[in-house]
Amino acid sequence: MALVLVLLPVGLVQAAPTAPGQAAIATAHPMATAAGREVLEAGGNAFDAAVAITATLAVVEPYSSGLGGGGFYLLHDAASGRDVMLDARERAPGQASRDMYLDDEGNPQPDLSVDGPLAAGIPGIPAALDHLAEEFGRLPLSTTLDPAIRAARDGFQVTEMYRRLAGFREELLADDPGSRTIFLDEGKLPALGHVIRQPDLAETLERIAIEGRDGFYQGELAGRLVDGVRKAGGIWCRSDLAGYRVVEREPVVSRFRGFEVVSAAPPSSGGVAIAQILNTYGVLERRAGELDDLSVLGLHYRVEAMRRAYRDRAEYLGDPDYVDMPLERLTSDHYAAGLAVGISPTDATRSASLAPVVTEPEGPHTTHFSVMDGEGNYVAATLSINYPFGAGVTVPGTGVLLNDEMDDFSQKPGVPNVYGLVGAEANAVQPGKRPLSSMSPTFVRSDELVGVLGTPGGSRIITMVLGGVLAATRGEPVDQWVAGPRIHHQYLPDRIEVEPGLLDADQRAELELMGHRIEVNDGFGNMQAVAWWREDGRLEAASDPRGEGQAAVFAPKAP
Ligand code: DON
Repeated sequence: MALVLVLLPVGLVQAAPTAPGQAAIATAHPMATAAGREVLEAGGNAFDAAVAITATLAVVEPYSSGLGGGGFYLLHDAASGRDVMLDARERAPGQASRDMYLDDEGNPQPDLSVDGPLAAGIPGIPAALDHLAEEFGRLPLSTTLDPAIRAARDGFQVTEMYRRLAGFREELLADDPGSRTIFLDEGKLPALGHVIRQPDLAETLERIAIEGRDGFYQGELAGRLVDGVRKAGGIWCRSDLAGYRVVEREPVVSRFRGFEVVSAAPPSSGGVAIAQILNTYGVLERRAGELDDLSVLGLHYRVEAMRRAYRDRAEYLGDPDYVDMPLERLTSDHYAAGLAVGISPTDATRSASLAPVVTEPEGPHTTHFSVMDGEGNYVAATLSINYPFGAGVTVPGTGVLLNDEMDDFSQKPGVPNVYGLVGAEANAVQPGKRPLSSMSPTFVRSDELVGVLGTPGGSRIITMVLGGVLAATRGEPVDQWVAGPRIHHQYLPDRIEVEPGLLDADQRAELELMGHRIEVNDGFGNMQAVAWWREDGRLEAASDPRGEGQAAVFAPKAP
């Protein structure tokens, strides 16, 4: 025995396991977690589970994501060791134009990009379901979409979260005949426990189960979508739907404290901003010798790094198929070192003193899920229809609720969007272009850890994911990543947003003395994360206590 061990390469004897054996899921709704579990237990892999979870969330969280929306999937394929970002972001319709949200005098008309059919981009989720199944999964869509079809037909119960978000959009939903019938109860906010059934959506899902992407982007359903959108005053054409494609893109990878951080590439700003913040913070950490993330100096440095990354986001970032971006420069150590030179250990920078640009705001919905299978495949996916209940319009006969993702474009340089974000030329509206996003599905990895995480939260997504990554690098358990108190700065408006409990009175006073303006906000985000600690094989999953989600770790039974 001893001889065998001597002959084996040392690395092999001590190698961490290559697969977790068990599976883990964290999603924003118990029915979506159950759908993922059902598919894994039927012999599916993490990509099949991602299909089931996406489709079920589309049914049971109509305020967050849906077939009418888009998103980004970060995928890790265990067999090839490859990481891929699947870009299923909405695209602007072919008849969209740069000034479509301005009146004759050039003034923004913010409602047009948030409410109603002009706000809707061409959806990406149905194409993503098809692509995941064809290229990565092993089960047919008829199996993986089945839990969602049942949920649409049999219904789901109205929760507190549903009531809060439907209440926020009640007027808009009441004004649209399609949405009113489905999402309200006789025109009123439904009571807790009221059952929402979506037979048209069940049929649309069935079509996709049988015909794949063509069931949505071609043929009868495409005709209904275009007719419905145009009748309501929108500008979609058949060719917009027929021409929609998901794109596989290389994720953005950065290194921090010996961890590899893999995150979303443009048209998300998430990976670039996270890389830039971590790089800058890393320089400041080395300069300080040692840095406690939650000390006043650690928080001040974090905020200053955020401020600069959001400034650059506003100026440079957009759809990579339309704009040239200095990505290598923005994510380089050299650039971070330059930014760090301008950061004082004692004084806040005023955003107005940085070279000016224009920015986007935070909307309260979108969803994220994280899933890992027993073989070591994993998916982080952030999906959205943007604002709660998107554009508020449900196309008759389809069950498809339109997104209002067009608001993520910059309507005019410097005019903030619904999340207060500003943008410039790189993110102006153009036909076929994808609006810049903050959605940041992310992996954080080392020899000891594989972490999979993400959250909704508009412009704050990036800084929340950053907080999760920092917690991971400190070795904290996954429930701390999702629950830990949050801190955010987005360059403009020039203020720090914090959750109660992060700063004590002395810390707050110290930061204010440095020149920071501080606003305490009630909780934000709904983070879902999975962690596989390779050293001892532990698998963890956690769902943000601020939401209604559910996490599960289990050994899939043999099918
Ligand atoms: O893509 C984006 O950045 C936004 N449409 C996400 C919106 C969002 O997270 C709203 N949720 N709270």
